[in-house]
Amino acid sequence: MFNASRQVTWPRLKSALEKDNAIEHRVEEWLGKMSLEQKVGQMIQPEIKQVTPEDIREYHLGSVLNGGGSVPNNDRYAQASDWVALADQFWNASMDESEGHLPIPIMWGTDAVHGVGNLVGATLFPHNIALGAAQNPELLRQIGEVTAREIAATGLDWDFSPTVAVARDDRWGRTYESWSEDPDLVRAYAGEMVKGLQGQGGECLDEHHVIATAKHFIGDGGTVNGIDRGDNVDSEATLRDIHGAGYFSAIEAGVQAVMASFNSWHGEPLHGHYHLLTTVLKEQLGFDGLVVGDWNGHAFIPGAEVLNCPQAINAGLDIFMVPHPEWKTLFHNTVDQAKDGTIPMSRIDDAVRRILRVKLRAGLFERKKPSSRALAGKQSELGAAEHRAVARRAVRESLVLLKNRNDLLPLNPKQRILLAGDGADNISKQVGGWSITWQGTGTSMEDFPGATTIRSAFESVVSDAGGELVVSPAGETDQPVDVAVVVFGEDPYAEMQGDVQNVQYKPRDTRDWELLKSLKAKGIPVVSLFVTGRPLWVNRELNASDAFMVIWQPGTEGAGVTDVLFTDAQGQVQHPVKGKLSFSWPSRPDQAPLNMGEAGYQPLFPFGYGLEYGQRDELADNLSEEGLQLPATEAVWELFKFRPLDAWQIEVEGGKNDRAVMSGNRIEVSTVVVDSVDREVQEDARHARWNGEGFGLVSLATRDRQVLTDYWRSKGALVVDIKVDAAPSAPVKWLVGCGPSAASEVDVTSELRDLEGEGWQTLVIALDRFPDVGSDFGLVLPPEEFFTRVLEPFTLTTEGTLDLTFSGIRIEKSRA
Ligand code: BGC
Ligand code: BGC
Repeated sequence: MFNASRQVTWPRLKSALEKDNAIEHRVEEWLGKMSLEQKVGQMIQPEIKQVTPEDIREYHLGSVLNGGGSVPNNDRYAQASDWVALADQFWNASMDESEGHLPIPIMWGTDAVHGVGNLVGATLFPHNIALGAAQNPELLRQIGEVTAREIAATGLDWDFSPTVAVARDDRWGRTYESWSEDPDLVRAYAGEMVKGLQGQGGECLDEHHVIATAKHFIGDGGTVNGIDRGDNVDSEATLRDIHGAGYFSAIEAGVQAVMASFNSWHGEPLHGHYHLLTTVLKEQLGFDGLVVGDWNGHAFIPGAEVLNCPQAINAGLDIFMVPHPEWKTLFHNTVDQAKDGTIPMSRIDDAVRRILRVKLRAGLFERKKPSSRALAGKQSELGAAEHRAVARRAVRESLVLLKNRNDLLPLNPKQRILLAGDGADNISKQVGGWSITWQGTGTSMEDFPGATTIRSAFESVVSDAGGELVVSPAGETDQPVDVAVVVFGEDPYAEMQGDVQNVQYKPRDTRDWELLKSLKAKGIPVVSLFVTGRPLWVNRELNASDAFMVIWQPGTEGAGVTDVLFTDAQGQVQHPVKGKLSFSWPSRPDQAPLNMGEAGYQPLFPFGYGLEYGQRDELADNLSEEGLQLPATEAVWELFKFRPLDAWQIEVEGGKNDRAVMSGNRIEVSTVVVDSVDREVQEDARHARWNGEGFGLVSLATRDRQVLTDYWRSKGALVVDIKVDAAPSAPVKWLVGCGPSAASEVDVTSELRDLEGEGWQTLVIALDRFPDVGSDFGLVLPPEEFFTRVLEPFTLTTEGTLDLTFSGIRIEKSRA
């Protein structure tokens, strides 16, 4: 095991919330009254779907959480009052005094990481990467204040925010949750965000504020290849100097919780890391609040299990976040381990002291039930005009101008303007991950009442000024226009699913580039508004644009974009463009990691770059357009891993006109339903059930033709990790398709029957088993041709019943 140089000195920090003798006295009093079971209950945090008020009473639970997309009564449209009603039930159960039950108020934690993302109608701010570009710590404090008020309206006490990660490899799917690659900026922000959320001075942790959490401790932004939950192999000095930065100011500002990270450090998972959790965080930095785990994160410790994990507590974890239906087993195991000395009582007492200290500091013992609190149930707090104004300002300050040929921007709205691109009228793209659903997928305007899309912001600005707006996502117009604005970029994603293999923008899908070029070819000046959660290689799109502005994932207030993009009708600038990159921008598609100060640093745009209006732009028009060689020649080409990769998507069909693409975590047509389910980590597999009431199809499909010829030539195979729970009742075909009218099929009925009840197995289908393809139109393609234009490499169809789950799907050379 890596032997950290233990001589590294971490700073001793002084928290704004100093130890208070009266509170410490009360902590000891309570501790003295508590049984072991009551203590352990404080250390267990189940998910709201898996806990009842009676459980809270019986197990003395200290806290609960709701995960991303998890809401009271499973009602996506739950109102503030519904949240408060459930919070009351939980609180009443915790405060019950009958039969000797000790009344210790429960806390409820949630992920308000860019506003209260789980709540329909809340104000959603730009994601952290955008806020980094604003370079304005004071703004962070205001965002914290607004977020705290909107959480308080739901009766909750605790926010799992801010993320103080310093993302150092932009392939990481959580890069957008990071303010900057620069530790100094993260340090300047973290403390202000904590002050905003928790309040300061006399207002500290009053009924308008919530407990904040600095996460994920430590090194989450520095894993090898930017892999979420991966391994960080930095030195301890680098952990301190880069990844520690946000914790320093957060702790100084008085943050009361720190979340342990999923990642490892030199192979040792943080949840079980005594040196980092106890020696560094608690002893050397002097953090006296609580350490909460991440989503079953303790289970990653070697030798540990999700329901049996003394290692984490012994390493310094104070609360198990355990969204698992059997969390009671973890409770009992932990009690037993305290009894038999596996976990020292002193460790249990330390954990409970910290939890009680936080609750006392937060005034929870004095406070009445959630519904009686100042802001509780106030629906009017959610998306309040003053709150949206702060978010809109944040959008304005975060926009970064990368190119502005001939001072094309700002635009006068009194012109004929074409608004194109699939991002112009696309709220899911605009808000990104952690928005109503965990990954931010599968949402629509109904989920964001009161939000302003970029399109609607354009409509009002242009019509107020007497201009003319033509909206066409595909950029089609028969009227002449003065300028085209194209909004395009990344689709929403969150942790794990957002990891990518390189920083090329959509390596398998060049439609946005084509659109820009086609407009340019018509002689129309082109403005690109790029929606993204990270810097990406967009040389082609830059060449094809006259002006290029990065708008990140701006959240619900699209008008912040038009505030800056447009002058008034007289041509006067209303709001200057101010944003400066808080992440370096790649000049090559394989350029990750890329951080200021590193050897060989050659970004296209350095950290801190951002044009102002009127500033001369010196960007060449002929940037290299050479993208990556697509991995069609790699030995193993992954198509599905945790999720469909690159341009792949899951499609289902129950017959003609009954076809749909999976975007949320369930999709249903008349004969098939597919759900996202957990194999090794959450939602890394898809469970498909055919009901036998007619033709049903499940497919992994793409919209860009893929070349599989090399695999076919090298005796390759399609490989799927599969678990068959109920064998097919009728023949099943595996099709490789080149579109609706050309497919080649293999009967896999007997293979699937053999796999029934065998658990996870690997099914290998050699490519040369697919015969020459015939089509409805009588066209026959030889394999050399056929495999150059594949759209659907994995399609299963049957008219019978069938129940199976798949996780990995890949194409392998020489497998057959
Ligand atoms: C994420 C955390 C989050 C937690 C609770 C985890 O998967 O890593 O950031 O706070 O879930 O939703
Ligand atoms: C997320 C949760 C989410 C869950 C879905 C977790 O990693 O943090 O918020 O609800 O996965 O399974």
